[in-house]
Amino acid sequence: MPADMVPFRPGLENVEAAKSAVSEIDGKRAVLEYRGIAVETLAKESGYEETAWLLMKGDLPTQRQLAEFDLELRSKRAVHFKLKDLLKCLPASAHPMDALQSATAALGAFYPCRTVSDPAKNWDAAVRLTAALPTLVAAFARVRRGEEVLDPRSDLDHAANFYYMLFGKEPTPAARKVLDACLILHAEHNMNASTFTARVVGSSLANPYAVISAAVGSLAGPLHGGANEECLNQLEQIGSPAGVQGWLDAKVAKDPKFKVMGLGHRVYKVKDPRATVLQEFAEQMFAETSRPKNYETALELERVCAGVYGAKGVYPNVDFYSGVVYQALGIPTDVFTPIFAIGRVAGWLAHWLEQLQGNRIFRPEQEYTGKANVAYVPLEKRP
Ligand code: ACO
Repeated sequence: MPADMVPFRPGLENVEAAKSAVSEIDGKRAVLEYRGIAVETLAKESGYEETAWLLMKGDLPTQRQLAEFDLELRSKRAVHFKLKDLLKCLPASAHPMDALQSATAALGAFYPCRTVSDPAKNWDAAVRLTAALPTLVAAFARVRRGEEVLDPRSDLDHAANFYYMLFGKEPTPAARKVLDACLILHAEHNMNASTFTARVVGSSLANPYAVISAAVGSLAGPLHGGANEECLNQLEQIGSPAGVQGWLDAKVAKDPKFKVMGLGHRVYKVKDPRATVLQEFAEQMFAETSRPKNYETALELERVCAGVYGAKGVYPNVDFYSGVVYQALGIPTDVFTPIFAIGRVAGWLAHWLEQLQGNRIFRPEQEYTGKANVAYVPLEKRP
């Protein structure tokens, strides 16, 4: 290995891959800040539109900037009718994340931004992506059930309009607030796998639609965004709080390295602050109705797992409670990760815009472990 080569770190753990001013995490103190502002404050005091501006522009907007940005977002929610046709062509059994990834890449064909040298065009694409992702997610959720696609409504805010496009009715104020908070809590999380993907793709000066569709693909995996779906399936499998201990014992007996979905994080070694604030919102929501069984099961699972995995710093991450909240809102399980993407798009775009400032293409090294000097044997002489 050459002297100046950094030793191999599986998963690039602790390797700095970029300089970034977008967000900061202190995994030991459960701190997450977007542009220096605590995520808990944003979830409680701000709205998704304002948080998206903060992430992408670097500072909170003025009243006028926010009003103009909001208007711009509302004007870019509708998508070309052929994009809806494209979604109709996909099998109804397709996973909504696959549909979203395809439709996001296709957006770039209808609203091209082939070169990324014009900041005004880049901003235009960033606003369109933020505005249109909810439309694409809601459209596929409906067409696969044979339902009519609903046009976005410009009299509703970002979260309320998404809910409307999904269900054909306006959310209650409590449901709108919890959905808005979920989008804020998922909006950014520094150098996670999907954001790194966005930066890598962006570093080749690929168009922003290619950047975001690649990030959607990365988010889909069960070790990343897909965990919220898996987490709810796991709660359904456990069935009730009384079933937790037996379920865990059986899983660990079969595989000592078994991973409980919704637990653990590369950075947090305490409970994820997003899980804590999401739980507060969940409690408020359930106070108006009743606590769902899955929530009671999740509480017991958290309690039991703290005893088993707490010493390793493995605690609930944001996905531990998000699935229970989405289920209570009536959202289908396989639409949970697309909602994560609808929130995270602001963070991906903030990193993409940052990456373009002083860009250098990502080109890491590898440690070759393959064969050398292998003779080519003609096909007819091979056994
Ligand atoms: N359940 C049980 N044990 C766990 C879990 C878990 N969910 N997560 C980590 N551990 C244990 C590991 O077995 C390992 O134990 P060991 O030291 O005895 O071998 C130790 O904790 C360290 O775990 P790693 O897998 O090395 O941690 P890593 O940082 O590589 O992985 C990850 C982080 C992928 C999130 C992991 O915790 C995991 O798979 N969790 C479940 C999936 C999940 O919830 N993903 C969502 C992540 S958050 C997000 O994307 C929004």
